[in-house]
Amino acid sequence: MELAPEKPRVLLGVTGGIAAFKAAELASLLVQQGAEVRVVMSEAARRFVGPLTFAALTGHPVPGDWFDAQQEAAIGHIELARWAQVVVVAPATANFIAKAAVGLADELLCALLLATTAPVVIAPAMNPQMFAHFTVAENLARLRARGVRVAGPAQGRTACGEEGPGRMLEAAAVAEAVWRLLSPQDLAGVNLLVTAGPTREHLDPVRYISNPSTGRMGIEIARAALRRGAKVCLVLGPSHLEPPAQVEAVRVTSAEDMAREVLARAPQQQVIIKAAAVSDFRPADRQPQKVKKSGPAGACTLEATPDILAALGKKKKGQVLVGFAAETEQVLKHAAAKLKAKNLDLIVANDVSAADAGFAVATNRVHFLTPEGEVESLPLMSKLEVAQRLLDRVVRLLGNAS
Ligand code: C5P
Repeated sequence: MELAPEKPRVLLGVTGGIAAFKAAELASLLVQQGAEVRVVMSEAARRFVGPLTFAALTGHPVPGDWFDAQQEAAIGHIELARWAQVVVVAPATANFIAKAAVGLADELLCALLLATTAPVVIAPAMNPQMFAHFTVAENLARLRARGVRVAGPAQGRTACGEEGPGRMLEAAAVAEAVWRLLSPQDLAGVNLLVTAGPTREHLDPVRYISNPSTGRMGIEIARAALRRGAKVCLVLGPSHLEPPAQVEAVRVTSAEDMAREVLARAPQQQVIIKAAAVSDFRPADRQPQKVKKSGPAGACTLEATPDILAALGKKKKGQVLVGFAAETEQVLKHAAAKLKAKNLDLIVANDVSAADAGFAVATNRVHFLTPEGEVESLPLMSKLEVAQRLLDRVVRLLGNAS
């Protein structure tokens, strides 16, 4: 029997600001994303959100205060500090930042910070005036110099009604910072471009040819690459999904737009992954006005769209080029032919006729094919896991390329 891999262990510290409610969302998100989460709260944080909320979300009781003898006997602060693979403090108040900067240990969370060797990320949240104060800046600089990552704050309107940097980053962005600390940095500094989503080829301003792609596979590749330290550009066709905030997202509509944006950026990229389901055909004539129902139906003549991947394959010099093949029959045969025809280093083939793989679902079942004729067939897994396995291969290919 295969043992399930151990879950990454995240210690979430919550301090007393109005943004503490976002910490509940963060705890929930981290658990959903597969982490084991333990929460430690400051005294002040308990006035904003109850420990029971975090206990319910994480499945673990929240330890009492520093002087809780029972708690110390059950799971001491040193044990918790050793347990953590990453410590995240969100929200981090000005008070907490000051205490951490000087190394105070007057409450459990501060003591844990001194006792842990795990990487630490903090998400400051406070009034913009407070954030602008040089003491806060100085304290943050001290923490940064010690290797603490500072995520945010975001710009915008704070609960006190002022504008400026001070808002806690959204929970999803803080979670990404945590996953980054848990991931190998084997794509650090690598320029990686991903395409995702469908394209739309308009017949007239209101009608178009497209396909059911949602962009999820490419977005998960972008997310996984970011976590591993890559500089990611995502060229995204029409999609309702939100790309991770830290990618350079370029929105496009048609295959022609996608070709222009990708080819302009291609020379700077070390890796290009074309997960987009680009329309192969488009109407030969696009009508400038809506075609009237009352008029003759007429035939629609189609023409081929530019094959972006084939163009990249022709120009390729030392780049790692990965394509996707969405097939409904003879999946491996057709994918192998595309791999060769488009001069790729790897192709990811999937049968889009299956209900649990391909378009518009969170899971995928794929095969990796290499120019050497190797075929690796993966079981059904989440698109994020497919992305991680794909990037393992990309890292190996980059090693080969250099
Ligand atoms: O459409 P086809 O099956 O050939 O798509 C295979 C691969 O080629 C995919 O990676 C897709 O993103 C890419 N492609 C492209 N430009 C097109 C059509 C497909 O880059 N016009």
